[in-house]
Amino acid sequence: MDATAPQSADVCLRCIGCGGVATGVQGDCRCPSCHDLLEVELDAQALAGRSPAEWKALWRQRRASEQPCDRSGVWRFRELLPILRVPTAAVTLREGNTPIYELPTCARDAGLQHLWAKHQGLNPTGSFKDTGMTAAVSRAREEGFEWLACASTGNTSASMAAYAARAGMKCLVLVPEGKIAWGKLAQALDFGALTCQLRTDFDGCVRVLSEVIRRKPVYLVNSVNPYRLEGQKTVAVELLEAMEWRVPDHVVVPGGNLANASALGKGLMELLALGLIPRLPKLSIVQAEGANPLVRSVRDFQGRALVPVIAETLASAIRIGNPASWKKAVRVLEQTDGACLDVSESEIAMAKDAIGAEGVGCEPASAAALAGARKLAQQGFIAPHEMVVLVLTGHGLKDTDYTLALHRGSLLPGTSPTPPPRPPAVLEPNAAEVLRTMERE
Ligand code: F0G
Repeated sequence: MDATAPQSADVCLRCIGCGGVATGVQGDCRCPSCHDLLEVELDAQALAGRSPAEWKALWRQRRASEQPCDRSGVWRFRELLPILRVPTAAVTLREGNTPIYELPTCARDAGLQHLWAKHQGLNPTGSFKDTGMTAAVSRAREEGFEWLACASTGNTSASMAAYAARAGMKCLVLVPEGKIAWGKLAQALDFGALTCQLRTDFDGCVRVLSEVIRRKPVYLVNSVNPYRLEGQKTVAVELLEAMEWRVPDHVVVPGGNLANASALGKGLMELLALGLIPRLPKLSIVQAEGANPLVRSVRDFQGRALVPVIAETLASAIRIGNPASWKKAVRVLEQTDGACLDVSESEIAMAKDAIGAEGVGCEPASAAALAGARKLAQQGFIAPHEMVVLVLTGHGLKDTDYTLALHRGSLLPGTSPTPPPRPPAVLEPNAAEVLRTMERE
């Protein structure tokens, strides 16, 4: 299938459509025969040399090392992603190793006993994208590319820009004008990306980028790039490690372009295949009502077809109408018996407020995971005693416009329920006024 041998590590890429095999990606990262997505096939034989206990010990031990690739929560697991000739030369910002928090109040409100949040927003650029970007950018540098490029709702571009800067590479960002959070745009500028705001939506940016890629040899780091998913799948290992290898009953993630769910599912399947876990959690995907093509696909076509939608949601990170990885996501839902559901803007806002009240900041898109878990508990899909882990995908400071509007009461005018407004008090500068305000609490 692939005529030119890559200059980087040989790893088998299999097409999820026709099953064909490639040894490297070209251009749009898709299968040259049928145009479907590729994925790295892990060679389980090559990993048979160690027992599950030995793998767990090795990966834990590396946390005590001072080597950059051991400190990385991605490259610490490098045997699971043999995509580089020289893994110790990876472009890393010490991504991963993110904390997992208990959310007792959110749990109680949802009628659950055990609820945790794995906070991927506490990565170097403030989103889960870093775990994938370290993999894709390292691979691109090894292959000798000069330019990286992505279309993005903001986080992918922030992450690409940072890793490109670290790698000494140029990068092109295409984002929908006025439709991404300012924090994310600021990051792309800060890290020196050539940043283009296009007068379209995310799906329009993807279309333009496909054309650019046909005309110039730039390396695509959107999540159609299978190496990115290899980095992102390590969240599964970290999550299990943090739970001391007790398998949660449910993992709930927000879904946009659907790579995160696909990668996490791939990671879980590989851990099962290697005997590191005895069973799978149910992996459920939550979309915003106004950007719910996967929900419609599952509901109307049993996941066999996807009709793109014009996406609208205030959770701008997941404002995506034509998700690239939908087939991979459907497969994960089937493999893990997970659910796919959508939540309203009001439910996302309530969830964001509830997570904030536990001292944890996250993006609106991340809060969709809690909104979804609440709904799944109400519907009985999640039982009260079951262990549930949410994946929080982005940092609370990414989209402060949303958070300020939420607390000023201007986010969703005329919609209910929304969290009671809690705007900052503006007072004369004297203690008596401050004390009076405190008494009203
Ligand atoms: N949460 C956040 C904060 C995101 O930035 C994204 C995606 C998602 C969830 C959804 O993940 O696409 O893998 O299903 N953001 C992309 C971007 C699309 O361009 O930054 P997904």
